[in-house]
Amino acid sequence: MRIKYTIFIVFFMALVIMEKENKIISRVSDKLTLKQTPRTPLHPSGFSHLMLKYGVSFPALSKDFMLMKRRLENYSEHQEVMKRGRKHILLLATTRTGSSFVGEFFNQQGDNMFYLFEPLWHVEKMLTLDTGGTNATAATKAYRDVLQQLFLCDFSLLESFIDPVPMDHITPALFRRESSSSLCEESVCSPVIKGVFERYHCRTRRCGPLNLTMASESCLQKAHRVIKSVRVRQLENLRPLAEDSRLDIKFIQLVRDPRAVLASRMVAFAAKYKNWKEWANGGNVPIDDDEVRKLKGNCDNIRLSAEVGLRQPPWLRGRYMLVRYEDIARFPMKKATEMYRFSGIPFTSQVKSWILQNTQASKETSGVYSTQKNSSEQVEKWRFSLPFKIAQVVQRVCGPTLKLFGYKFVRNEKMLTDKSISLIEDKVFNF
Ligand SMILES: *[C@@H]1O[C@H](CO)[C@@H](O)[C@H](O)[C@H]1NC(C)=O
Ligand SMILES: *[C@@H]1O[C@H](CO)[C@@H](O)[C@H](O)[C@H]1NC(C)=O
Ligand SMILES: *[C@@H]1O[C@H](CO)[C@@H](O)[C@H](O)[C@H]1NC(C)=O
Ligand SMILES: *[C@@H]1O[C@H](CO)[C@@H](O)[C@H](O)[C@H]1NC(C)=O
Repeated sequence: MRIKYTIFIVFFMALVIMEKENKIISRVSDKLTLKQTPRTPLHPSGFSHLMLKYGVSFPALSKDFMLMKRRLENYSEHQEVMKRGRKHILLLATTRTGSSFVGEFFNQQGDNMFYLFEPLWHVEKMLTLDTGGTNATAATKAYRDVLQQLFLCDFSLLESFIDPVPMDHITPALFRRESSSSLCEESVCSPVIKGVFERYHCRTRRCGPLNLTMASESCLQKAHRVIKSVRVRQLENLRPLAEDSRLDIKFIQLVRDPRAVLASRMVAFAAKYKNWKEWANGGNVPIDDDEVRKLKGNCDNIRLSAEVGLRQPPWLRGRYMLVRYEDIARFPMKKATEMYRFSGIPFTSQVKSWILQNTQASKETSGVYSTQKNSSEQVEKWRFSLPFKIAQVVQRVCGPTLKLFGYKFVRNEKMLTDKSISLIEDKVFNF
């Protein structure tokens, strides 16, 4: 009996302490919100855990007691989210690798997610030179700093890259706003203003120009934050983010067979590759072509990033995952599960049903994680549109990249179009 009373007294005292702490915390967090700085994690007192442990097995004394217990659980839950629940994920890719699709895996997560689609678009645009390229030195630093701020729900640096510059933090021009569920939800939706044209307007509800202060407030409330970008050149450049203890960031790098990427680009940007097609049909493809140089540059950047990631230097340990587009296309549910497990974010039924609706993953054949022949065929369709000569060029300039990711070389035209040979090797990447 005595032990029960002791526990109860300890419990009661702790509740008093907790109430006091709660007041302090809310005062502090009010201040933080006012200053619009990100909330720092609160440390749970070991005390409340002790209490919770005893409280659970303690006989219910009264309604009040149960209420107190529940409040205690709430309090502790809140602290847990703040302490280690919040995840920051950067989805890194290059164009034509299916990154918008994979980004949706996170965008569809639900109310706990703050997802941003290509915020660096504005930065790249602003830093584009008259020659058409970007100032690499300036861009590298700007990408890193903008990402760091955005993960902390601070839009101020990004604002300076939006053209025209937002007035009072309001902009009708945020690139692909409608691709972020979190930028179109009720709390971020301000009234429509007549006569203001919004190119990237929300589709789920009618909203006025985006109030970035509201976006920031919403961001601060979310448990998890994910940003997708095809603009970061080298993972190494993001080391300061990995070392920022406020973020506890993880990187998912999405890669795809460079031959398939090129085939896809040749369809999407046909004019740019007109010469290539002629060369492929007639003579040799010149290796010093600008596009070839770009291709090589891209392949090298992707490979160097992956090599750093797979090497797992101390600053990246446990923070890097490599995913091949081809595996996602063939085994979407399995890969999404892996990505969520890696990220530490709960894999909600909402995401699962989105994947089922938008892929051919189904329970029909051999289990939930089965794939259908169709998606495999889809993934290797490029083999019938890319001339062998061009495939050869890619193999020449991107050889080490193909090798690293497990994409088989083709030796001749026949092998390229032989459906019975898959060019995707089974490969497990360490993370
Ligand atoms: C616990 O939290 C939930 C949601 O955050 C709230 O609805 C509920 O009233 C809280 N319970 C108590 C006892 O404070
Ligand atoms: C590129 O950016 C750097 C740093 O901002 C600057 O010093 C340099 O002049 C820029 N180069 C060009 C070509 O604009
Ligand atoms: C933008 O949102 C903030 C926070 O809700 C609000 O204080 C501010 O007045 C809004 N700005 C405009 C111009 O409506
Ligand atoms: C592949 O999908 C198409 C339509 O998406 C369908 O008509 C066709 O029957 C499927 N083929 C196989 C082998 O499942």
